[in-house]
Amino acid sequence: MAKVVVIFHSGYGHTKKQADAVAAGAAGVKGAAVDMLAVSAEGEIPAEGWDTLAAADAIIFGAPTYMGSVPWQFKKFADASSKPWFTQAWKDKIAAGFTNSASLNGDKLSTLHYLFTLAMQHSMIWIGTGMMPSNAKAAQRNDINYLASFSGAMAQSPSDGSPEEGPLPGDLETAKLFGQRVADYAVKTRG
Ligand SMILES: Cc1cc2nc3c(=O)[nH]c(=O)nc-3n(C[C@H](O)[C@H](O)[C@H](O)COP(=O)(O)O)c2cc1C
Repeated sequence: MAKVVVIFHSGYGHTKKQADAVAAGAAGVKGAAVDMLAVSAEGEIPAEGWDTLAAADAIIFGAPTYMGSVPWQFKKFADASSKPWFTQAWKDKIAAGFTNSASLNGDKLSTLHYLFTLAMQHSMIWIGTGMMPSNAKAAQRNDINYLASFSGAMAQSPSDGSPEEGPLPGDLETAKLFGQRVADYAVKTRG
């Protein structure tokens, strides 16, 4: 089995829905075992979460975009990951990232760049969406990869919407396919 871990923070529940969709997509891949780890409101993960990450073949990082980057809670987790960084314990694991925010753009790419840099500090192998953008005249908001990201999965949740109302369905489907892609690759290369 290839072990895939989705580690994410969500302040108000919107990014958790995206994380659930990523995990569901990964879990649908034969040969993949998926764990989810939430970074708490205090920026903590359970102590055994570090063992789960150490055993992972692929780690998918996720966070909402707050002020153009990850929230401080995720950064606290990232700083705590300096412990495995010292021994390069995550070297050559597969890495990927996703983010959700209120605006269509909202500087989401900046958050993905942060997640990418974190993965590179750990000498991981980054995998993008592998999805073509939906940007023709006939494009519809709920098309796959309407937000047109190659670097990682993006989702948008209207600023006044509850987690039941956002992320939008097409972005959740995009997240699902993204999780599937990462898990597929993990099974092919590490399973
Ligand atoms: C402190 C803060 C900063 C935010 N900054 C941004 C931003 O830079 N760009 C954006 O599009 N949305 C921004 N938002 C909106 C959130 O990204 C959006 O509400 C998201 O769905 C929240 O996800 P969550 O429920 O998982 O926390 C911000 C929200 C908060 C609370």
